[in-house]
Amino acid sequence: MNFKRPRGTADILPEDQPYWGHVYDVARNVANQFGYRRIDTPIFEDTNLFERGVGNETDIVQKEMYSFEDHGGDSITLRPEGTASVCRAYIENGLHNLPQPVRMYYAAAMFRYERPQAGRVRQFHQFGVEAIGDSSPEVDAEIIELGWKYIADLGIKNVTLRINSLGDSEGREDYISDLEKYFFGVADRLPKIDRDRLNRAPLRVLDSKAKETQALADAAPKSVDYISGEAKEHWDALLVLLDSLEEIYPEFSYKVDHRLVRGLDYYNRTVFEFEPADAGSQGTLIAGGRYDPLMGILGGQETPAIGFAAGLERLILELKKQELPVNSSKGPEIVVVTLGDAGAAGAALASGLRAANVSTVLAPKRSMKAQMRYANSQNAANVVILGDREVATGVASVKSLAEGGGQSEVSLDVTSIAEHVRADGDQ
Ligand code: HAM
Repeated sequence: MNFKRPRGTADILPEDQPYWGHVYDVARNVANQFGYRRIDTPIFEDTNLFERGVGNETDIVQKEMYSFEDHGGDSITLRPEGTASVCRAYIENGLHNLPQPVRMYYAAAMFRYERPQAGRVRQFHQFGVEAIGDSSPEVDAEIIELGWKYIADLGIKNVTLRINSLGDSEGREDYISDLEKYFFGVADRLPKIDRDRLNRAPLRVLDSKAKETQALADAAPKSVDYISGEAKEHWDALLVLLDSLEEIYPEFSYKVDHRLVRGLDYYNRTVFEFEPADAGSQGTLIAGGRYDPLMGILGGQETPAIGFAAGLERLILELKKQELPVNSSKGPEIVVVTLGDAGAAGAALASGLRAANVSTVLAPKRSMKAQMRYANSQNAANVVILGDREVATGVASVKSLAEGGGQSEVSLDVTSIAEHVRADGDQ
């Protein structure tokens, strides 16, 4: 038998966990700083939720969903993203009855059947935030600030923020029709993939990866030139707020990018992405935007909302690339080494120490040398050595594994040993 994990999934081994602990800890802290509270939704949902919410024409729905029929005949999908689920939960649980906006965050696994490569996997993890029930540009700026603060608190440098406004549905029709006119006019210079896109999802031609399309896209009509009324006021106010963030956070900066569109259908007005400065196409670390139409699409009351999701795999790749320190996992305070017939006494001592909240591991019954090697491999702070003589005299040897750490004779009882290692650890 030769089992392998499914393609595009990972085993996160203990040695990698400090990175994961770090991205989760910093996410929780920054969410708390901004007053966002945690929400958890099911890993699977009704397939319709994503077909309607994310959009039938999107790549996600067309080719990336893990969907199956369950034993009751219902079509179920492993969530490809978190926003539709959070909105479903908001409607279903009557969260519109709470004071608005409702600020929530999640940190969870998502599933997309994509072609795996560095930073693109089939089971991935997102830290997402959603502010629901407020249409003011201050909330857009807050969400962008939160994304920035998350990256800054992780210590990641050289990240660029691009933003754009897609406007509201009114201006969008004119815009898309002019955009189509423009691209159809140059269609003979577009690669086939973008000619196909032009028929299916014209906005997506703008964020094409093909060089020849990119040059044409730079000269294409810009959505911000088509927005008017409230959407335009919203955009202008947001830019002023972002300018003031530049004064508060010295390294914060943003760039308006007319080619930025998003791959999910629910967005309107503000969209944005954070990318490492030297990234290829797989580099987007955080992406989000306003999605005022989504609640209505899902059958709830019209409710404005905005949010983002950060890709944790990609942030960890970036932490490693930039060689940023994360707290390495601490080993146990004590490894108990036993010799001769002291095995049972050692096991009882280890249990007693754990009952007294001293993290303690029993070394495997082998030679003294092998047990010491084991203690070192576990990053233990101390070893307690117990042989027949120690059990008979009631005095154990406690050896510190810290550099230059000494060895002491300590009365063989839980309280004395616990006190000894704690005093040692405090120095
Ligand atoms: P998204 O752009 O599909 O947006 O994904 C957000 C982020 O998740 C990406 O920028 C990337 O870092 C990460 N990500 C996406 N797919 C993968 C993958 N296959 N492997 C590794 N990382 C990946 C959303 O999901 C929206 N729900 C974001 C949002 C929240 N908008 C408003 N609120």
